[in-house]
Amino acid sequence: MNKSTQFNKLKKQILKINLPFQNTAHNLVLGRGNLNAQILLLGEAPGKNEDLQGLPFVGNAGKFLDQLLSSVNLTEADIFISNIAFYRPPKNRQPTKKELAEFLPFVKQLIQLIDPKIIVLLGRTPLSLFLPEQKISEVHGKAKKINWNNKELFILPLFHPAAALYMRNLKPVLEKDFKEIRKII
Ligand code: URA
Repeated sequence: MNKSTQFNKLKKQILKINLPFQNTAHNLVLGRGNLNAQILLLGEAPGKNEDLQGLPFVGNAGKFLDQLLSSVNLTEADIFISNIAFYRPPKNRQPTKKELAEFLPFVKQLIQLIDPKIIVLLGRTPLSLFLPEQKISEVHGKAKKINWNNKELFILPLFHPAAALYMRNLKPVLEKDFKEIRKII
């Protein structure tokens, strides 16, 4: 089965079950980009624009992310991007641990499907999934080799692009940290 068939199958499977925020969201936001990419980026959860379009990172944070990608000569063809929650939480609140745990088996399936060389974690929420003990302020920009479901891969925690838009002092840090992707790919 090719990746696009697998992706559609996963989508259908997810649509069939009851997941957090499904009743209030407009669309499932499972991801966009190249299913064969070596780079997988994971954010937290869809926002308003993402919910309406059914695509991740299409609002302001997404525009900034596109700039960051092009600053290291990457395009949508080089990446796949998704979130660790696939529906927009009401009023954009942060998903609880319990809610995230319900999405986790599908996040794992997505990672398995993409089979990336590096997972870029956008912000502290996706970081908490992989390295629950670590603080984003301490580990941002530091790629780490981990064992994920019996497979070695790199994870690179970064500040969330939306955080860098609110806190301008984080912007140059994120721009610098982004270059780390190129040391692996
Ligand atoms: N922020 C996220 O974490 N994910 C999106 O898809 C958009 C904004």
